[in-house]
Amino acid sequence: MYRTHTCGELRIEHINQTVTLSGWVQKIRNLGGMTFIDLRDRYGITQLVFNEQTHKDLCEQAEELGREFVIQVKGQVAERSNKNSKIATGDIEILVEQLSVLNSSELPPFTIEDETDGGDELRMKYRYLDLRRSPVRENLILRHKIGFEVRNYLNSENFIETETPVLIKSTPEGARDFIVPSRMNEGQFYALPQSPQVFKQLLMVSGFDRYFQIVKCFRDEDLRADRQPEFTQIDCEMSFVEQEDILNTFEGMTKHLFKTIKNVDIDYTFPRLAYADAMKYYGSDKPDTRFGMKFVELTEAVKNSEFKLFNEAEYVGGICAEGCASYTRKQLDQLTDFVKKPQIGAGGLIYIKFNADGSVKSSIDKFFSADELKELGKKFNAKEGDLVLILAGVRNKTLNALCELRLEMGERLGLRDKNKFSPLWVVDFPLLEWDEDTKRFYAMHHPFTSPKEEDLAQLDTNPGEVRANAYDLVINGVEIGGGSVRIYNDELQQKMFKLLGFTEEEAENQFGFLMNAFKYGAPPHGGVAFGFDRLVAMFAGLDSIRDVIAFPKNNSGRDVMIDSPSPVAKEQLDELKIALTLKEQ
Ligand code: AMO
Repeated sequence: MYRTHTCGELRIEHINQTVTLSGWVQKIRNLGGMTFIDLRDRYGITQLVFNEQTHKDLCEQAEELGREFVIQVKGQVAERSNKNSKIATGDIEILVEQLSVLNSSELPPFTIEDETDGGDELRMKYRYLDLRRSPVRENLILRHKIGFEVRNYLNSENFIETETPVLIKSTPEGARDFIVPSRMNEGQFYALPQSPQVFKQLLMVSGFDRYFQIVKCFRDEDLRADRQPEFTQIDCEMSFVEQEDILNTFEGMTKHLFKTIKNVDIDYTFPRLAYADAMKYYGSDKPDTRFGMKFVELTEAVKNSEFKLFNEAEYVGGICAEGCASYTRKQLDQLTDFVKKPQIGAGGLIYIKFNADGSVKSSIDKFFSADELKELGKKFNAKEGDLVLILAGVRNKTLNALCELRLEMGERLGLRDKNKFSPLWVVDFPLLEWDEDTKRFYAMHHPFTSPKEEDLAQLDTNPGEVRANAYDLVINGVEIGGGSVRIYNDELQQKMFKLLGFTEEEAENQFGFLMNAFKYGAPPHGGVAFGFDRLVAMFAGLDSIRDVIAFPKNNSGRDVMIDSPSPVAKEQLDELKIALTLKEQ
């Protein structure tokens, strides 16, 4: 028997018991006549004591051990004279009587402790060692618990977990597909699913009524902190439901997770914010509503002023930062530099300080009198001591820059508290998005999303204005999930494909199977998919989803541990009849 207990289990009530433990050597200390070893496993750390006077041989053996050796010890549990309140086993230690080395270890390339000296790349290369560190392991345990509670909840709500294929046909969902050549079907390719969208809809046609799957999805897109090329969705679909039914079910799941994982009771209905209002007040379809600082538009109010920039701008708007009138020149310059960064792209920043003494100081003093500035201040409900920050320019770009400025001010003022959670549904997304480059409409969500009944008439005349039965769950400025009520009638679906620029032949070729299925009694249905990695990162208070994935990829989509992607043998390519046209580097 390798062990009677784990390294996190023994307490004061175990004193005098003889126990066997197995684990990794975390640390060895030699203190005049005694050798102490911290023995670690997944469950915790237990202190081992080797006494030179009573067990000289053992002590010598212990001194030969190195970090990360795997050992087994047998000994008696004793009360520690020098207790360590920082660890759960800190009241006891093991007086070792037998030691066996189960495996040796090379010196690890970084210290395997909560605070490590290893940089990101090194830790990713040796991810299996990084995963021995408790903060990383805790994230994965949290992931396991959340997955478990998701299954619990959905099972109790009658959802059936059903697997769908991973080698599929390319379906457009906005990103690029990863493709896989087929040896048995020369010159043909599978695509890895960007999501199981079409399959879950077909399961509704099959009468499954409630489907879910915790499933890997693959998208070949540019990576960011919250995007991986392969990520996991909690993918769900329901039949005979309207948007409200879906929102209620998944609001229920979210609340269940907050309660079981965080012990947080959310006793209110999640607010619903129309997409148009999200853009108007926050410049984003995923607003961080942990704090206010909503945008106030001034475009009309400042037209016809002496200030050319305001007169000519398509959009003028700002935010009010409470208590920031005391900002120094240097702080304002920093904010100006921030909004002028190329990725934000504002031309400059205008400020109005409503000083505590009642005076007003602004970068546009030359064009506006103190009374006029005070009038503008009223639109923001600015009080003495507040700072109003204004941007002007092309509408969408300026809204976007103001959104970044708002988030930056929220950060500076400590308003983005990781322990505060502010969920909301963003609803009424536009059905279509116009792309200037290709001069065509794209589906804002995906081509299977249904238009709002009351906007249907505009589908032919003014498609850009049609709203969809689509929604996103947003928590603390992160898009946690998204979904829609689907089209379930083949005529409307075909019309949608046409609007999206598919010829009849293309639509038939790509989605013939779905159109066909819709001819056999498709029920009204809709669903949602949560980004599982994002959900876990949010609960863990982390910004990057990489920290909640056991073996993640880096920003170039590489797994630096297994060194993938990598070239394949010529024979493999020949068998697939694939010739590379790459120039030799
Ligand atoms: P959508 O494309 O909005 O919807 O994806 C659903 C959720 O998945 C997460 N997500 C990602 N997470 C990590 N890395 C990525 N690259 C990534 N891309 C998306 C987000 C997102 O909200 N089939 C539809 C759902 C439906 O209509 O039911 C879909 O996939 O949290």
